[in-house]
Amino acid sequence: MDGNGRWAKARGELRTQGHLEGLKAAKRIVKAAADMGIRYLTLYVFSTENWKRTSDEVGFIMGLIKQYLRSELEFYEENHIRLRHAGDPGGLPQEIAAEINDMCIETKKYTGMQVILALNYGGRDEIMRAINRAAEAGENIVSLNETTLSSYMDNPDIPDPDLIIRSAGEYRTSNFLLWESAYAEYYFSPVLWPDWTEKELQNAVESYQNRERKYGGIT
Ligand code: FPP
Repeated sequence: MDGNGRWAKARGELRTQGHLEGLKAAKRIVKAAADMGIRYLTLYVFSTENWKRTSDEVGFIMGLIKQYLRSELEFYEENHIRLRHAGDPGGLPQEIAAEINDMCIETKKYTGMQVILALNYGGRDEIMRAINRAAEAGENIVSLNETTLSSYMDNPDIPDPDLIIRSAGEYRTSNFLLWESAYAEYYFSPVLWPDWTEKELQNAVESYQNRERKYGGIT
């Protein structure tokens, strides 16, 4: 969800204002995706590298996340949305980790779209944690195969992403879903994240629908 900072700067406002608008855009896109019948939507909210930002900005984003989680319960209920978490809960402030855990339990009964909040998430970190979990569970690391390692990822029941969208004209993966994105299609948009509306999502999905997926094979 890139471009919050630039969106605010262009208006002579603080970066935090950009994150506030970014949160509104996230809500718009979650609703639009649910209405379109998308089954899984992962939002890259905060990476394992985002701690490098100023403590003011990190504190503001964490506050926003905490407020967002609880206050949206009615929205999840109305839209039958189940919340999930990807990332290391151990590195999060205790109250955020507890809140996200509670919300995942409370929304487990909803059978609509699943929204996965990638929070303190890094693709390399997830792979390392999966290897460690496999070792702790008694797997033979030397003969580990892809299927077994996949089963130790943060959300092994969730299918690999079909489409990964990056906003604000950035052309990097930035440590996002490294394991799961092996055959994902990418969509890059110049539109800053706070300006995202249902139309941008539709454009991305239309672009996806016109791709030919060969998974390394031939058609
Ligand atoms: C990237 O833009 C944005 C972030 C690292 C924060 C994302 C957080 C939110 C959208 C608010 C919380 C959302 C939810 C769903 C709880 P940037 O700051 O890197 O922008 P820039 O590239 O223009 O500087």
